[in-house]
Amino acid sequence: MDDFARLNQRLCDVSRAGFTNPYACLEWPERLDPGAWCMSPELLSLYGTETYEGLTEAWRRRLSFFEAVNFFSLNIHGEKALVAGIAQRLYRPEWRAVSPYLQHFLDEENKHMVLFGGFCERYAGKIYADRKVAVPAEHAPGEEDFLFFARILVFEEIVDQYNVAIARDTRVAPVAREINRLHHRDESRHLSFGRQFVRRLFDAAAPAWAPPTLQAVREQLRAYITAVWKEYHNPDVYRDAGLPDPYGLCASSYASAPCRERRRALTRPCLRYFIDNGILDAEPTP
Ligand SMILES: [Fe+2]
Ligand SMILES: [Fe+2]
Repeated sequence: MDDFARLNQRLCDVSRAGFTNPYACLEWPERLDPGAWCMSPELLSLYGTETYEGLTEAWRRRLSFFEAVNFFSLNIHGEKALVAGIAQRLYRPEWRAVSPYLQHFLDEENKHMVLFGGFCERYAGKIYADRKVAVPAEHAPGEEDFLFFARILVFEEIVDQYNVAIARDTRVAPVAREINRLHHRDESRHLSFGRQFVRRLFDAAAPAWAPPTLQAVREQLRAYITAVWKEYHNPDVYRDAGLPDPYGLCASSYASAPCRERRRALTRPCLRYFIDNGILDAEPTP
């Protein structure tokens, strides 16, 4: 058994030992305290901007509620795509070694949507729409699988940093902290798997790609990192929070120095991984 097979076995064991009922693992309060933080203020998309500085404390907390609904909504949309893509790849003859763990991956992502959807539907009465646009493309051999799992990894690496910070933030409403904690518990395994599997898929496929193909693959990965970050700035959130000029605010907050700095800091660990493994050649600036 090689290292990757051992990792798969260990991840399956932990998933089985911690098998969760998403309908029973959380106490849902009847209503949320309207004055509670639902996300750590430092992680809000507007934190550090002039607009944020001009808001009252109560308004900032109200904004944190809609930003949490956005964070949970974008997780749902990411997980829907993930579930569809993993289901399609289950039980491939050449992937026998990973099929048992992919089954847990699928199961756990479906359960995460129950938690995220539970929060959004209960307290906001909605899930924000998915703003990503999928562009159909031709793929070189191995490219589609590589990009699928590499995108999952980017998405989960960024989300996980939010999960960890919010789960330990005692200012945040207990139900929101607990959803972040439960998510991180499973995601730490998805990330261990993803970091190994993405490297293997790249090493298996990339040597046969012509230089322009490799360049195009890298470009798509960089573009995805930017697209993920754009979703954290949602005009619907700003409108629901009662802020003027939601679209203008979207663009100005995304381009602001504090947001750029936060984005860079939170993307750095994941970029390190891609560069250290020769997958990306230069550091993009999301
Ligand atoms: Fe998830
Ligand atoms: Fe995950």
